[in-house]
Amino acid sequence: MVPTITKPIPFPSIPVFQVPPHPIWPSLSVTEKEILKTSIKQMLKEQNGVLVAHYYTDGALQDLAEETGGCVADSLEMARFGTDHDAETLVVAGVRFMGETSKILNNEKRVLMPDLAATCSLDEGCPHDLFSSFCDQHPDHTVVVYANTSAQVKARSDWVVTSGIALQIIQHLAEKKEKILWGPDKHLGRYVQKLTGADMIFWPGSCVVHEEFRSVALERLRKLHPGAAVLVHPESREDVIEQADVVGSTTALIKAVTTLPNNEFIIATDAGIFNKMKQLAPEKTLLEAPTVGEGATCHSCANCPWMGMNSLQNLAEVLKNGTNEIEVSPELALKAQIPIKRMLDFAKKLKS
Ligand code: 13P
Ligand code: SF4
Repeated sequence: MVPTITKPIPFPSIPVFQVPPHPIWPSLSVTEKEILKTSIKQMLKEQNGVLVAHYYTDGALQDLAEETGGCVADSLEMARFGTDHDAETLVVAGVRFMGETSKILNNEKRVLMPDLAATCSLDEGCPHDLFSSFCDQHPDHTVVVYANTSAQVKARSDWVVTSGIALQIIQHLAEKKEKILWGPDKHLGRYVQKLTGADMIFWPGSCVVHEEFRSVALERLRKLHPGAAVLVHPESREDVIEQADVVGSTTALIKAVTTLPNNEFIIATDAGIFNKMKQLAPEKTLLEAPTVGEGATCHSCANCPWMGMNSLQNLAEVLKNGTNEIEVSPELALKAQIPIKRMLDFAKKLKS
């Protein structure tokens, strides 16, 4: 039986932070796009650089990453790819924690990002001083943090997880009867707790993008498309996850579109993922899961505003000027890489 272990958190609520509007980039003509892409390819070559992009970034960046020998991936694979590749410069198109993870694991390499202000609501809502005090209050707990956190928060943890491996790692810790302090995404935390029965307490963070998906509207859409499979990222609310046919990381959701027999899919995650899904399964119909912003003003509905800060234009700028380098001190990197490497080693063992 799954115990209900939702303990009250004797700690301040998360700090207020600004969610920016989704950036609107000036549209480029086909020729302008081609010129930019050619110049980026050239600069990557000259600087022995490789582009690593997340599935939520602009489709042009995702395609360029693949065309130039880089990769487009989920956050777990992005970390792995940068470490295995011998490029001297890693250009990370995604959000700040992804660039920081690359720098932590590859401190000797230069890590650039198109926009250093591209952060994440989970990271913003989990300042390391508050999180560290929370951990101090629960010294008997194993600290497991989601990758969407700062280098300092990672350094305070025992394990780092991504959505691609959270379930397996929590299952492993639950089998060892460890008490777990989980942060910062409460929805992902509750989801893995429900499946594993682990003894967990939670930091109350959330993703402002995935929190926008709404269960009642989703039920309506499912009735209109009874043959559609529902794919949900586990940062979504519990009542949305409950309606899912598949819950998983961005990679797992993409795989579901290509492997399930359904012709229609309702997808509850950032719309940037449609780029890869359409490439791999052009014959399938992909529908966006409804958000609270339908018919209203919405800052972030199904489009992460921070992921949107990456474009061909600012990617070309950073390569040209060598700006926006991610800095993580070697001392901090040494501490933060312990829990990340623990996750990567665990993933390797699982695979083999
Ligand atoms: P993935 O690890 O599944 O790619 O998720 C990262 C993320 O930020 C989702 O919002
Ligand atoms: Fe963070 Fe949510 Fe954006 Fe992912 S989609 S980077 S969790 S704010």
